[in-house]
Amino acid sequence: MVENTGSIEALLREDRVFPPPAQFAEQANMPDSGIYERARQDPEGFWAGLAGELDWFEKWDQVLDWNPPFAKWFVGGKLNVSYNCIDRHLKTARKNKAAIIWEGEPGDWAVYTYQDLYREVCKAANGLQSLGVSKGDRVTIYLPMVPELPIAMLACARIGAAHSVVFGGFSADSLRDRINDSQSKVMITADGGYRRGGVVPLKQNADDSVTGDTPIEKMLVVRRTGTSDDRMVEGRDVWWHDLMANQPMTFEPEQMDSEDMLFMLYTSGTTGKPKGIVHTTGGYLTGTHATTKWVFDLKEDDVYWCTADIGWVTGHSYIVYGPLANGATSVMYEGSPDYPDRDRFWAIVEKYACTILYTAPTAIRTFMRWGEEYPNRHDMSSLRLLGSVGEPINPEAWVWYWQNIGGGRCPVVDTWWQTETGSILITPLPGVTTLKPGSATHPFPGIEVDVLDEAGNSVGPGGGGYLVIKRPWPSMLRTIYGDDERFREQYWSKYENIYFTGDGAKIDEDGYHWILGRVDDVINVAAHRVSTMEVESALVDNSKVAEAACIGRSDEIKGQAIVAFVTIKENVAASDELITELKQHVATKIGPICRPDDIHFAAELPKTRSGKIMRRLLRDVAEGRALGDTTTLADPAVVESLKAQYGDEE
Ligand code: WTA
Repeated sequence: MVENTGSIEALLREDRVFPPPAQFAEQANMPDSGIYERARQDPEGFWAGLAGELDWFEKWDQVLDWNPPFAKWFVGGKLNVSYNCIDRHLKTARKNKAAIIWEGEPGDWAVYTYQDLYREVCKAANGLQSLGVSKGDRVTIYLPMVPELPIAMLACARIGAAHSVVFGGFSADSLRDRINDSQSKVMITADGGYRRGGVVPLKQNADDSVTGDTPIEKMLVVRRTGTSDDRMVEGRDVWWHDLMANQPMTFEPEQMDSEDMLFMLYTSGTTGKPKGIVHTTGGYLTGTHATTKWVFDLKEDDVYWCTADIGWVTGHSYIVYGPLANGATSVMYEGSPDYPDRDRFWAIVEKYACTILYTAPTAIRTFMRWGEEYPNRHDMSSLRLLGSVGEPINPEAWVWYWQNIGGGRCPVVDTWWQTETGSILITPLPGVTTLKPGSATHPFPGIEVDVLDEAGNSVGPGGGGYLVIKRPWPSMLRTIYGDDERFREQYWSKYENIYFTGDGAKIDEDGYHWILGRVDDVINVAAHRVSTMEVESALVDNSKVAEAACIGRSDEIKGQAIVAFVTIKENVAASDELITELKQHVATKIGPICRPDDIHFAAELPKTRSGKIMRRLLRDVAEGRALGDTTTLADPAVVESLKAQYGDEE
């Protein structure tokens, strides 16, 4: 049922434990370990207390309205996220504190104090309004990691328009799908972004995404690389710097209902069509604010750096909203970790004296492979806390991170959550939790999780099963944009009134949670969610392909790699050139992160008698394992011949 049973055995042999360092325990932000029990007894009271740490224009009348699977939190409350992330800090000593420290890949940098951010966000809100954006609209944002990205998000929040940020690594086609689904009238993009010394042609992709029928009426373009000056379309395109030049420097924040949509963010699901995950205002900000404060134990003088791209949920919640709602200094870096050399991250840590670093296991494994020489070039004694997110972290990588980046003194918080959950749900709290490398440890207070078998029974200590969440939480997704039915079907149909995460997990004898990875057709490639169905659709979109099946195989660095088994049409010859062509086809169609690592040609794909492709057997083939149960196959010879062909390659 749950994959990766091999790796859980390895994980459970892990018996090193790391108690919280005394100085953490003494000054932790969270009240005390009794909070777990208090939150269990009165979850609504617990969350209401945390919501009360935000600034509300009007207080709510009801904490939770739970009409499964639809939740409303802080019903009747009114607030504005941009006000909470900016204005309220201006009344305090934070006014001149750095809100965002930004560094571009070429080495340029900029610092925005909270006051600067206020000015820029107000100008951007006025500018967007002049382009016709108003409360309730959706705005597509397709930008590199430049300061205009968080500024644009906060400007949307100020107006009350929902943003839909599309990761800059996505193709024109993917962007088009997302624009059409959200029906955005305005898109914000840039001429290009810097990546590994080159330029990502964002404006070109943006232009290609709006050919033919499109809801986009205006394109606001940030000039970053100077590479698209000839691409501006009269009447449609406006330069960001031109628009902002004469905007007023104040903008009254819209009083939003707690349940008004703050943003949507597309993520891969089990079908080829990405889902627009909807997050609302009050609950989302309560969850991200509280978790940032407690999980990262954020202090007034911390310099906090999350290395994610804002195009993913981690960047939304833990570069922009969580840190800024807390009045923190949030570092943002545009480019790749190996430009100009493999020590770039450590140079940034040293330059800005970062105290907290939050990154992904795939990055840590890459650094491990590059070797200690790179971190050793820099003084990283400013660091006091490390975080990990996006995929299971193997204990070797955990210990390497703790030792070589954290100098053996920084707790490592392994945080489990999803685009859908909005904020961190399973995590250590650095002042109280004894860490076990490889385990995300315990649910955050107020969160009730369980591990269930197929029939919905708790599997109990040591058993593997499906990870579920048993009661609603404030930052949970509210629906899939425009598709309540799919929302219900995807997350709430496996068990009644229980949220199904799509992950497998195990709880050990000490009550520690171990995440085993996805149990559906979603794979985690270098901490990015990829739907195997989406890659399959892109492959069969090529006229030479008859049928395709994709699976994830384990990969030392990326966690999982994409393997495609492809049946080509009869008049087409298999060749290395075709493999290259197909890989490129997928990259162009969806985006480079979805490029298959291996493509295998198959005369036929293994199917059940009812015609369902047996991916489990393909995984066995790709990972060179003995084949599992083949009795349900329509034709067992198919998989035997695939195994003979490819089984011994690894
Ligand atoms: C996986 C990223 C193990 C998991 C925040 C989840 C993790 C998916 C962890 C969500 C972790 C995330 N340990 N697995 N600490 N964090 N995952 O939506 O499979 O991009 O379902 O959100 O990443 O990916 P998403």
